[in-house]
Amino acid sequence: MNKLRSVVRGSGAALPKRIIDNAEMATLVDTSDDWITQRTGIKSRHIAGEGETTGSLATAAARAALAEAKLEPNDIDLIVLATSTPDHTFPATATEVQHELGITHGAAFDVNAVCSGFVYGLSTADKFLRSGDYKRALVIGAETFSRILDWTDRTTCVLFGDGAGALLLEAQPSSGGRNDRGVLSSHLRSDGRYRDKLYVDGGPSTTKTVGHLRMEGREVFRHAVINLAETIQETLRATGYAATDIDWFVPHQANRRIIDATSHKLGIDPARVVLTVDKHGNTSAASIPLALATARGDGRIKDGDLVLIEAMGGGFTWGSALIRW
Ligand code: UT7
Repeated sequence: MNKLRSVVRGSGAALPKRIIDNAEMATLVDTSDDWITQRTGIKSRHIAGEGETTGSLATAAARAALAEAKLEPNDIDLIVLATSTPDHTFPATATEVQHELGITHGAAFDVNAVCSGFVYGLSTADKFLRSGDYKRALVIGAETFSRILDWTDRTTCVLFGDGAGALLLEAQPSSGGRNDRGVLSSHLRSDGRYRDKLYVDGGPSTTKTVGHLRMEGREVFRHAVINLAETIQETLRATGYAATDIDWFVPHQANRRIIDATSHKLGIDPARVVLTVDKHGNTSAASIPLALATARGDGRIKDGDLVLIEAMGGGFTWGSALIRW
């Protein structure tokens, strides 16, 4: 039977110009390159300057994905943008991207699942495309977390960075077999009991302010290792693949130690793990599409490769997806 599947046609990334390395961080708060490197694997991060916004970074990443796909903005009829740092409380930053690209048809909206946002966005767009109602989607993860950090809190400000990444997905007929290209399976979870472990202490309806990011790092770490292994196993079970079948493991880039623990637990070859946390820090919803675009751009991810993505973040939210590129 002919089914529809969401096939990757292009990927793109955008990073702010300014880079802050760990040595510069140590001039801002009581920290050191040694501590940050050993505990997180982060060496530097990009920080948005004046005029660089979630919307402008998202638009640049979207343009790069369109260029790889050799498509025009008007070929797109759906934009799903994952962010927790929108340009405005409303309208959705996705509509800003839509406007910047000159698209006046179709639909554009944001999803907020914090660091899991890209997996949520991909899963959402995949369902819209497979329904047959939309033909081509830009799925974007874009963040300017630097603007919600407490720059006096060393336990959080050293961890995050800004950036954007995008995938262009197209609904294509498929036999439905697991060797056909496209998103093979995606799995989303959340558990609001833990919403105060990683949150922003402001918002329009409570404090009427934007607020700052607060995190109980050790608690998040503990849950991440458990939840990520569980969701990956769910995705592998659903598709009948083993961890050893994965060509590229592209995890959310929060902490090198979480990534190492997860891949070790699942038996994924370290050579198959895409790491960008050293250069980007934790860019929340942008980290997976930034890493995908990096590994596609340098020739690691090739057409037909089996790519596993996963993330866990505030809420808690978590999820994973398997893509035949
Ligand atoms: O993307 C969303 C999901 N987020 C995450 O996945 C983050 C998960 N958590 C983590 O990555 C880690 O928990 C952190 C990197 C945040 C922290 O690493 P940790 O090994 O859990 O350290 P800790 O919080 O247990 O802190 C150890 C020590 C503390 O000092 P004492 O109490 O032992 O004297 C901290 O005060 O390190 C201290 N510390 C620092 N020292 C130097 C905390 N931050 C810093 C710092 N520089 N920046």
